[in-house]
Amino acid sequence: FFLAAEMQTGSFLDLGMFIQNLMLAAQEKGLATCPQAALAEYPEPVKKILGYPADTVLVCGMALGYEDKDAAVNQYRTAREQVNAFTRFFY
Ligand SMILES: Cc1cc2nc3c(=O)[nH]c(=O)nc-3n(C[C@H](O)[C@H](O)[C@H](O)COP(=O)(O)O)c2cc1C
Repeated sequence: FFLAAEMQTGSFLDLGMFIQNLMLAAQEKGLATCPQAALAEYPEPVKKILGYPADTVLVCGMALGYEDKDAAVNQYRTAREQVNAFTRFFY
């Protein structure tokens, strides 16, 4: 996922929402995803290989494919914080 260099903070929010929608759509189609910000540590070779202009901002990559449900790595589940632990509701 790339952004044009002139984009501001709000565009990163837009892109994040776009990425999440893409992940949900992929799930709906039976595909699995894994967003990877680590790719953004190496923007030069990625842009060179994919033919993107040098002044674009590489935000992150994303693996897309069919999940191997039997692979050990895919058995790992992270704990989820309870909603009340990070939210204050104002009535
Ligand atoms: C935009 C984005 C970028 C991410 N980049 C990485 C990454 O570079 N390396 C990594 O180990 N996890 C990364 N993660 C976290 C994993 O994609 C994934 O969320 C994590 O393995 C936990 O899985 P879960 O969210 O299903 O609990 C990233 C997550 C997001 C949303």
